[in-house]
Amino acid sequence: MTETEKNLIQQAEEVARDQRQLVDADPYRQAFHIMPPVGLLNDPNGWIHWQGRYHMFYQWNPFAVTHGAKFWGHVSSTDLVHWMEEPIALAPSEWYEKNGCYSGSAIDRDGELTLMYTGNVKDDEGNRFSYQCTAVSRDGVHFKKQGPVIDSLPKGYTAHFRDPKVWEEDGVCYMVIGAQTLKEEGRVLLYRSENFRDWSLVGPLIGSQQEPLGDFGYMWECPDVFRLDGQDILIASPQGLASDGTNYLNRFQAGYFPGTLNLSEGIFTPGAFTELDKGFEFYAPQTTESADGRRIMVGWMGVPEQAEDRHPTLEHSWIHCLTLPRELTWVNGKLFQRPVQELEKLRTGNPIRHTGVTRSIAPFELEGIEGRTLEVQLSGVDLQAHDYLDINLHNETVLKLSMMEACDITLERTVIGGDAREQRYGSVDQVAEIRIFLDRSSVEIFINDGELVFSSRHFADPKNQAVTFAGDWLSEPVIEAWKLKD
Ligand code: FRU
Repeated sequence: MTETEKNLIQQAEEVARDQRQLVDADPYRQAFHIMPPVGLLNDPNGWIHWQGRYHMFYQWNPFAVTHGAKFWGHVSSTDLVHWMEEPIALAPSEWYEKNGCYSGSAIDRDGELTLMYTGNVKDDEGNRFSYQCTAVSRDGVHFKKQGPVIDSLPKGYTAHFRDPKVWEEDGVCYMVIGAQTLKEEGRVLLYRSENFRDWSLVGPLIGSQQEPLGDFGYMWECPDVFRLDGQDILIASPQGLASDGTNYLNRFQAGYFPGTLNLSEGIFTPGAFTELDKGFEFYAPQTTESADGRRIMVGWMGVPEQAEDRHPTLEHSWIHCLTLPRELTWVNGKLFQRPVQELEKLRTGNPIRHTGVTRSIAPFELEGIEGRTLEVQLSGVDLQAHDYLDINLHNETVLKLSMMEACDITLERTVIGGDAREQRYGSVDQVAEIRIFLDRSSVEIFINDGELVFSSRHFADPKNQAVTFAGDWLSEPVIEAWKLKD
């Protein structure tokens, strides 16, 4: 470790120590989500199950609640529920990363936990340089940097060239990298290597001459490619999509293309792009495979440049968190995201169970269903035409379902740092089941076992514990709740 690296890590640890009381005093500090100890967190990085533990790294600025020269923070877990804080994995100490160890991924290489990330550099004139770099660890905790393995830009692309996601297939290593053409079009580039050192560009995976994409944003961040239940999937976070009806309402989007991947030619033939999450905050997700072969995704529960200067947690010297881990499946041409089964371990005590809940236009509470860290599950909902159901969380975030030919779903909350109300929308043919995870300052809602998902930060009055229901329906749903680990 270089002196600069040692110093940076020491400074970050000091800030975390000095600010700890202030951070911990925040009523919006989460109970079971991954958060920064202090400062700003953004993308999940290096997400991997390695030698019996899950490792999650994250983009982290310890020194301010704004974006800056990013570190890689690190937590690990054996069960996806209880996370242990690990020492800082990467600090932006070297010339090839001095303005940030930007996002990247992890892979096992001959028993070493190997990271591939982007070194972000800006010179005095503000020119940007991007280096794709590796770092390795034998114990999964201490990393040795190896410097850049790609130190020049591909022809025809700008220095917005980052976020490598690596994998291995049939003895060959591949990676996809988010990129921007000189004409300012977002792309995903595919690279390959036999030895993880020498990488060659195969080509643009998507938006090539053979497969033009049209106008689809000026930069794509954090790509991820994998095969799910026989279907090839490309995930990316495109920047610059114009809002379109009820779609693309956040500042930037994260979504997926189902498609067909031809690895040897480096061509992905995409189907339609779909947003992964219809809530207010979700960006830059990353997936990995669990020990038993499930594809598990975690996202950043934040969006760049979206109300980042107005979060109430800023007063307590921290901002943002990651989402809960979700298992992805591909069922009948649709991507489903369900909270990983391990999350049942968060439940404390017996379920509170109300059967045959009858309609009431006046909002009502159900005994025992209240609190700030809570899972609520509705089953047998079965709304018929003109039925509706509202679920009001702490008099702040409201989920509204309204059945016409299909079920239109609205999520409404108060603008962060403002008074007005704002909405996000989704729609499914019919709602059978709803699952809600409430932590102290977030809500994640899974409709029909993850057919549709809404993730949002939730800054309700910390004293408000109430969950109320209202609406008009004929079915008699079962409503259950569990108090979660606090
Ligand atoms: C996405 C992103 C990445 C970049 C990182 C920097 O949120 O902009 O493209 O690597 O964050 O923190």
